[in-house]
Amino acid sequence: MNELIEIEKSILEQLEKADNEESIEKIRVLALGKKGKITEIMRSLSNMELDERKSFGREINFLKGKISKLINEKRLLINSINLEKKLKSESLDLTLPVDLELNGSIHPVSQVIQEVSLIFGDMGFDIAEGPDIEDDWHNFTALNIPPEHPARQMHDTFYLEKQDNNNQDLNEVLRTHTSPVQVRTMMKSKPPINIIVPGRTYRSDSDQTHTPMFHQVEGLVIDDKSHMGHLKGCLVEFVKKFFNLEKINYRFRPSYFPFTEPSAEMDIGCIREGNKIVLNSDQDWLEILGCGMVNPVVLENCGINSMKYQGFAFGMGIDRIAMLKYGMPDLRSFFDSDLRWLKHFAFDQFNFPPDSRKGSF
Ligand code: PHE
Repeated sequence: MNELIEIEKSILEQLEKADNEESIEKIRVLALGKKGKITEIMRSLSNMELDERKSFGREINFLKGKISKLINEKRLLINSINLEKKLKSESLDLTLPVDLELNGSIHPVSQVIQEVSLIFGDMGFDIAEGPDIEDDWHNFTALNIPPEHPARQMHDTFYLEKQDNNNQDLNEVLRTHTSPVQVRTMMKSKPPINIIVPGRTYRSDSDQTHTPMFHQVEGLVIDDKSHMGHLKGCLVEFVKKFFNLEKINYRFRPSYFPFTEPSAEMDIGCIREGNKIVLNSDQDWLEILGCGMVNPVVLENCGINSMKYQGFAFGMGIDRIAMLKYGMPDLRSFFDSDLRWLKHFAFDQFNFPPDSRKGSF
């Protein structure tokens, strides 16, 4: 009996002192492990007389239960103290004034969105936005891409498995391009329409020039006279201003998009020097955007009279033109949040925008 009281006292004393996971585990092994004190006493029960075994067995079982409960409680207590400590050490006071040495900087994607918006803003475009989570109709069907259309396969779509209250599929997707905002804008406003739509887009694709989330800027002009010549003039003007070039080498190549007719892709002349792409050469061509005259089917889908109105649209990869202008070789590094990369490529927030790149390379 005395022995049990002694054992209990010593375990409780040790538990009291323990302040980390390892010391608690040590105590558990010494008391309840295979060779633990309590385990050993339990083993010795078999040598006792029946009566003694009964009463002593009850005591030792009681002690065993008590000790394992106390060990578990102490473990929980230490875990919650540690968590509390960790949370405290990681908390940030967002109301503190900015430390000028440690301040953040502008990500190249934000910088380029600003540059693009300024240039198109000067040409008279407004900025429009739409949701990242789209329904099938806005992302595909209204844009003349019905179910079963092969263009759907080209988009490597992320489908969302969400249902409404009646268990009907909501047919939602992460938008694969910014073109659904064309639809949203035409549905709610009357021509003349002049908008650009910078924003996030998503496709299940990843390599040096593709990431599952990327950025596009859409352009849409609807009135009663804009034609392919205006489209071309507008884009050539943009590219010259964006790359700070007096003259650029470019070509418009016939292409196909279900929502434009005719459709084209714009390439700019360049030369690849190792990892880098240098503009204004006629050695090689780099595709930077898709464009065309808005298909009358799309106008009608959005409630616009195609006998009266016409216009053009384009869609450009923001990350692509950022890589080209500022010389980043790999698109994936845009989204790694690596401070060394950001220090090298990000922009000064006090000199924003444009042309305020930190450091040089
Ligand atoms: N949405 C097309 C794409 O993502 C680009 C595009 C936009 C083409 C507008 C024509 C007109 O590839």
